[in-house]
Amino acid sequence: MSDSVRILLSARQIHARILEMGAQIHADYPAGSLHLVCILKGACFFLADLARAIDREVVIDFMGISSYGRGKTTSGAVKLTKDLDLPIEGVDILLVEDIVDSGVTLNYLVKILEQRKPRSVRIAALLDKPDRRLRPVKVTYVGLEIPDEFVVGYGLDYGERYRNLPDVCVLEGPHVA
Ligand code: IMP
Ligand code: MG
Repeated sequence: MSDSVRILLSARQIHARILEMGAQIHADYPAGSLHLVCILKGACFFLADLARAIDREVVIDFMGISSYGRGKTTSGAVKLTKDLDLPIEGVDILLVEDIVDSGVTLNYLVKILEQRKPRSVRIAALLDKPDRRLRPVKVTYVGLEIPDEFVVGYGLDYGERYRNLPDVCVLEGPHVA
């Protein structure tokens, strides 16, 4: 239990950036229904803050996906664990994700959603590790680019722990594989 965390992005920095993202999204979308699709579980804090930073009507829905085991590397296989509650044909979809790493998850999700004929699908990701990409993903709204380090907090976990840290932190210590 002697893992330690080092703050990479403070809660204050994160919130300031999310306000900017919300303003950009507000400016970019025409009037009409904007569906925010939160990818569980990591993006739930980001969704809550981003939704309140977008000064327009939005619909919120959730999608569950698992591509990671308990550790830090992707299994490569993406599994849908919870589907959307609402139909998306003809609507603008903004996928809200915590972090883009290999791109495997979002590459897969965008394909699934496009089959349902939404008007548009874009991605808002709080964090991006561009050096790690294995699959192409177009992320229209990127919060902050970070180096190739494993981070926790503000929704992000390591083996389901640390999600409730207010800052985004790098996990360091003897137990971190
Ligand atoms: P991808 O499919 O490799 O892009 O992985 C995306 C998912 O992996 C994210 O939604 C996170 O749940 C998880 N992930 C990737 N990097 C990290 C990290 O540094 N900390 C915690 N979770 C991560
Ligand atoms: Mg995630």
